[in-house]
Amino acid sequence: MRTQVAIIGGGPSGLLLAQLLHRHGIDSVVLERKTKDYVLSRIRAGVLEQGLVQLMEQAGCADRLRSKGHVHDGTLIAYGDTMFRLDFTDLTGTPVIVYGQTEVTRDLYAAREAAGGPIEFEVEDVTIHDADTDSPHVTYNVGGEPRRIDCDFIAGCDGFHGVSRQAIPLTIRREYEKVYPFGWLGVLSETPPVNSELIYANSPRGFALCSMRSDTLSRYYIQCSLSDKPEDWTDAAFWQELKRRIPPDQAERLVTGPSIEKSIAPLRSFVTEPMRWGRLFLCGDAAHIVPPTGAKGLNTAASDVHYLFTGLRQFYDTGATDGIDSYSAKALARVWKVERFSWWFSSLMHRYPDQSDFDLRIQIAELEFLRTNRAAQQAMAENYVGLPY
Ligand code: FAD
Ligand code: DHB
Repeated sequence: MRTQVAIIGGGPSGLLLAQLLHRHGIDSVVLERKTKDYVLSRIRAGVLEQGLVQLMEQAGCADRLRSKGHVHDGTLIAYGDTMFRLDFTDLTGTPVIVYGQTEVTRDLYAAREAAGGPIEFEVEDVTIHDADTDSPHVTYNVGGEPRRIDCDFIAGCDGFHGVSRQAIPLTIRREYEKVYPFGWLGVLSETPPVNSELIYANSPRGFALCSMRSDTLSRYYIQCSLSDKPEDWTDAAFWQELKRRIPPDQAERLVTGPSIEKSIAPLRSFVTEPMRWGRLFLCGDAAHIVPPTGAKGLNTAASDVHYLFTGLRQFYDTGATDGIDSYSAKALARVWKVERFSWWFSSLMHRYPDQSDFDLRIQIAELEFLRTNRAAQQAMAENYVGLPY
């Protein structure tokens, strides 16, 4: 088989890129290791920046997002006995949209199917060949049958555990990593959200986040130990711990119910450089990971897709290569700023095992500064709603 762009990974990055290319008359084939149902069962991000919303518009996939997504003009930050609000719209002119990654992915799959764009599910042994030449190809197996795709370019959109990053030789690839000494235990429940806006809470018992997917579906997280397993936490134990970490008036009105999903995510900061090797381009989690505090993972995957799509479109329209040549540098310049923000917000909100009394006082001082200083609030809000592309 031949295509213009072989896309490895049918998560949000791969699907969004495929749809943008399709709308511009550029062919692609998407290769996904899992089934569609499996991909749609993964509960992940929930807060979308305007940049991602605009890309969904460009991809022709924003109808449901526009009607079902919730506009959030601000968020609440709690610590000690204090809670304050950051008004994003007042500070930056821009709100964020609460709409789950599952729904984004569902909308992108629907568009891909409507367009008749090829997706191969349950592919195995995907291998990238000759990415440093002008004629790369990808081989893989489906149901034990060997297949091959010849292409102009390969987009590595296969997440942190994919094969694309590993295809870049170690003599060229440089990785930067920070692993955090805790995880997040997340629960999804069919209960009304405790508050109409998200609450990020720094408590002596550890971080907690009250988020949502809709008026009837809540998403809550608590900082947990890396050795914890989701099955160690009964629903009752989770709700009790969450209530102890959020302001008492919120805890009082929290509606609890059975969890419909419960999972633990470790926290990691990770960047690989460069994000391009020859005709292979890395996008999204394949190239970088952020700790979830601040909801930047999916949004940063989207900004990569924007830069890559812009470069590929320019190449196919005019033959010029400056867009694809500058892809890695442009994407990384934004990625590192997002890494900084996610690291900073994580450091501000969590309890660390080796935190001294001095460290704790500094954390509180930083929260106080943020509560009372408009310039600090503006810097935080600009990052939260999304840095410009
Ligand atoms: P992925 O979503 O990982 O998609 C990659 C796809 O490639 C997957 O479907 C995978 O099956 C497929 N694949 C992998 N290897 C191969 C292969 N060899 N061949 C073919 N296909 C392959 N971000 C937030 O902003 N907020 C959150 O709350 C949040 N929570 C998260 C919780 C968890 C547990 C995880 C893992 C991530 C979370 N993220 C969150 C991050 C966010 O979900 C990711 O940044 C986003 O999914 C990145 O999209 P992607 O398409 O680049 O990668
Ligand atoms: C969600 C996750 C985040 O990491 C975050 O900062 C905000 C919201 C969520 O899953 O809803």
